[in-house]
Amino acid sequence: MSVPPPPASDYLPLLDALWQAAGNEVALEELQRASGLAATQIHQAIDEFVAQGCLIERSPGGVRLVTAGLACWSDLLESAALRGGWRIGRRVKVFSETTSTNDVAWQAATERDADGLVVLANHQIAGRGRLGRAWRAPAGQAVLLSVLLQDAASDAAEPAASPALDRLTLVCGLAVALGLEAAIAQAGWGRGGSPERIEIKWPNDLLVGGRKLAGILVEVRRLAPSPHGKNAVVAGVGINVTQSPGDFPPELGGRGISLYEASGVMLDRLRVIEAVIGSLNRLLPVNDASDAWLELWRQRCGMLGRHMTFRSGAHTISGRVLDVDPLQGLLVRDDRGGTHFLSARTCSVVP
Ligand code: BTN
Repeated sequence: MSVPPPPASDYLPLLDALWQAAGNEVALEELQRASGLAATQIHQAIDEFVAQGCLIERSPGGVRLVTAGLACWSDLLESAALRGGWRIGRRVKVFSETTSTNDVAWQAATERDADGLVVLANHQIAGRGRLGRAWRAPAGQAVLLSVLLQDAASDAAEPAASPALDRLTLVCGLAVALGLEAAIAQAGWGRGGSPERIEIKWPNDLLVGGRKLAGILVEVRRLAPSPHGKNAVVAGVGINVTQSPGDFPPELGGRGISLYEASGVMLDRLRVIEAVIGSLNRLLPVNDASDAWLELWRQRCGMLGRHMTFRSGAHTISGRVLDVDPLQGLLVRDDRGGTHFLSARTCSVVP
């Protein structure tokens, strides 16, 4: 189910000015200057924004955008992409409900000029996680985001076996962690005490206090025809934003946490999305020659040096985690002294 059309394009500079004020009131004269609209037109436009689901406060002196409705998300994000010169987010599709944002991104994968497409949903009815698991979140409470990169993975005869998948999973995890930290800082995490840091659990989980805040699912496929002659990638990101403990599915066994529970701050999902897309743009696609990001990843990974157990198909491996290699995976020394690289494509941590 796709979201209704956005407000008239004449109104976009006004909406943008309200959004960029980051929750602060903007004086009417300033809005007139930014939008080129007369005062009466501004009031008409604001009525329109409210009809599109925006929460707006008006006072005699000005106007404050509290939250932007779903119908305005793509315009606001595409404007942010234009301002930032971003590749990711040049085109944004928003759905009130869909199967899986990753599936929607794959459907667009052979379209011309779909590189950098972002797909967002308020609710997914068939969200999926790594290794065939389901990803479930109540409508309106999570960020559900997929990014299509048409030429992100260098050619591999068997895309599912591409080592690029391991590296992209790590880079995306780091980018999302950095983006969330930026969104949290902007919203004032730490006002009531010191924040708990976001930790990366190899390969694809972001944790706070040992509980899952976000998960990343990176998929690589060979497209026919391939617009760029390379394998395409869809990176799907699910972030818990406003859930309370009772909102998580039972299979998480109490190990889910939202940004709200972690920080005490009710973050606006579109601010979180903008920060995460900004961060993805700064880190992706990763330059083959540079692993400068890897040190930042290591600093956030709480597993290095720990003794842990992993499952790979029917096998389990217990041992000490020595390091991570962006292409080969997690380096583990087992209890008999043998070393193994565990790939994100096939392995998971046994809790
Ligand atoms: C995991 O933890 O195993 C990865 C979860 C990834 C979930 C996100 S939500 C948006 C995107 N669409 C999906 O179907 N999955 C990813």
